[in-house]
Formats: sequence, structure tokens, C-alpha cells
Amino acid sequence: MIPVMRPWLGKEEADAAAEAVASGWIAQGPRVQRFEEAFASAIGVPHAVAVSSCTAALHLALIAAGVGPRDEVIVPSLSFIATANAVRYVGAQPVFADVDLATQNLTPQTVEPHLTSRTRAVILVDQGGVPADLYAMSALCDPRHIAVIEDAACAAGSAYRGRPVGADARLAAFSFHPRKLLTTGEGGMLTTPDESIAGRLRRLREHGMDISAADRHRSQQPVIEHYTELGFNFRMTDIQAAIGLVQLGKLAQMVVQRRALAQRYRELLSGIPGLLTAADPPYGETNYQSFWMLLPEGSPVGRDDLLRLLASVGASARRGIMAAHLEPAYADTQVSLPVTERLARHSLILPLFHQMTREQQDHVASVVKSALSSSVLRAPVP
Ligand SMILES: Cc1ncc(COP(=O)(O)O)c(C=O)c1O
Repeated sequence: MIPVMRPWLGKEEADAAAEAVASGWIAQGPRVQRFEEAFASAIGVPHAVAVSSCTAALHLALIAAGVGPRDEVIVPSLSFIATANAVRYVGAQPVFADVDLATQNLTPQTVEPHLTSRTRAVILVDQGGVPADLYAMSALCDPRHIAVIEDAACAAGSAYRGRPVGADARLAAFSFHPRKLLTTGEGGMLTTPDESIAGRLRRLREHGMDISAADRHRSQQPVIEHYTELGFNFRMTDIQAAIGLVQLGKLAQMVVQRRALAQRYRELLSGIPGLLTAADPPYGETNYQSFWMLLPEGSPVGRDDLLRLLASVGASARRGIMAAHLEPAYADTQVSLPVTERLARHSLILPLFHQMTREQQDHVASVVKSALSSSVLRAPVP
């Protein structure tokens, strides 16, 4: 089966993990610190704080932005459900806004109608790795004192206005789940230019402790820690960080390869009228974490039938990005989001991974192309 995604892992990652185990220090420790420093420098931000997942990162980002009960946070419904869930974890209300069709991201035009006196933050998702227009969203939100939190779960390695995604964000949250380019199994990272926010995030991820367990162990003298506020166990392990350090060194190569494969998909699928696929926005470059395509209106094959067809010929595609407001967990939400609903019902994600061969890609593209061209076969016999 051609997988939809396969992490690019090898002996180097295995050796790095084994070295962490052999060192005897496997919980959050020196490798997490090195990974944070290397990640911060790769993004071009002063501070990076490693956590156990991007979901945890979003949860902490909302706390750091001062979001709490009775606040509203504007989010795209078209996102993995973790984006909206994080808002509920802090007792606030997710308010779903529609997205732009080409980028699948929130824009000031889709967000503005939902602003109220209770809006405390916007979670701007770089969907599938396509950077959202952060400056445009900040121009809407900053004068109103509304925090913009960047959900860059999929976007490590993407670029926004010539710099890595996250470089300009006050708070950005990344995921290292294996569906992402850079993986640590599970894991996440928060980045921020603000030293005091970074310090608070470090305490929050570790039960609210004012001195980390690693620092206490390093000290020659007994150290009595204090718990400054309600915190969480959102720590990353040193085994994960050891893998992350190796993966970070390969990220640029992964982006180059995924962009080349995406370009090739576009060429192979050219000539299908009305087919929309993932692409760079005018102001940035995607890492193609997902190569999505939206079926043309009047497509001779439905999305789910096409997924089944691909599975039957050995290719594991996936539905496109989900819409949280259509899920039972959000059944109490009454909102009409036409672009979101169209994308959620009629888009899919094609297999794309670092070691994908030309033959595998040709196979997937030819199945898609012939399925979408089969209208001739289905035309009524005169
Ligand atoms: C946009 C978005 N936000 C958040 C998450 C959650 O990331 P994690 O699995 O690291 O918690 C994901 C995961 O797919 C995502 O795509």
C-alpha cells in the first residue's frame, strides 16, 4: 500500500534515541534544552518551549494569552479538531469562521463578521502547511487588543514573507506528530519572542514549578521548588528531543523534496478542468505537509468513491481537512460556513512522503486523472 505519509526516519534517529537511553536521562533534560535552542534558531525566534503535543501547545498558548471562561476565540472550523478543543479546555467558546478557498486559511474578511466585545483571541491556522497571512490578521486584531495565536502544527519548514513560519508570531504552536514533516512520535513546540511568556510556558508545562526537575537534579545543593500556579504535565522526553534534533537537521531537505513532488503532482494532474490543488499563497511558501485537491463541481466521481478507488489500487489517500462544526462534539454550534463545508465534503489528500518514488506518484496521479475524466464514459449513449 502506498501510504499517505511516511516519516523520514533512519539509523541516525535510532542512534540518537539509543544514546539518550544509554545516558540514563530519558525525561525532559539536556536534549530537550538543545532541541529548543536549535528549533528557536532555525525559526529565528528568541525562545522555543518544547511540550508533549501541539494540542498541549495551543492549550498553554491560550492561557498565556489570558483567555479564560466567557471569552470567545475565533478559529477555523476547517482544521483538525484539536484547534477548537483547545479553546474549550480553557473554558472559552470557539467561534467558527469560514476560510479562503485557495489557502484554506482564515482571512480578516472571514474573521471580522464574528468579532464581538468578548473576542479575546484568534487562532490562525497554517492549514496543511500553507502559511496564513499573519500581518493582515494582526492588522485587524492588534488595534482591538485581540491576541493572534498561530497554529503552525503543520507548518515547520514553511515560509512567510521570506522568513520561517513562526518568526513573526507572538505565539506559535508546532506539532511533531508523524503526519508532519519533522516528527518526534508525539511532541510539540511553542515559540515566542517574549522572555516572560517563555518563562511562564516553561513553568506551566511542568506543573507550575518555579524550577525545573532537570535543574534541581543538576544542583549540588537541595533545592525546594514552589508551585506558582495551576500547571500541567506537558513535558517532552529527552528520547523525543534526541530524535527531534536529528529530524530538524533534515527539515530543509524534506521541504525541497516535498515541494518537488507537489510540483510534479500538479503537472501530472494538469488538464483536469476546475481541479483546485494546494499551492503557494502570493506571500509565502508551503512545505506541502498535505497535498490536497478539491474535486471540480460536477465531478463524475464523488470524493468518498475516489478514496475507495484509490484504496482498491493500493494507494492510501485521506479525506481533506475536517470541519469541526459538522462533528457531534460541536453539535450545539449553528453556523453556515459554505467554503469550509465544500472543502470538507469534496477535498482529499493524496499520498506524499519524502521517499515516494516517481512510479508511485505516476500510479496515484493516473488513477485520479482517469477517474476525473470518466465523464466521457458516463455520458448518456445518444
Ligand atoms: C492544525 C492542527 N492543529 C493542531 C493539531 C494537533 O497536533 P498534535 O497531534 O501534535 O496535538 C493538528 C494535528 O494534526 C493540526 O493539524
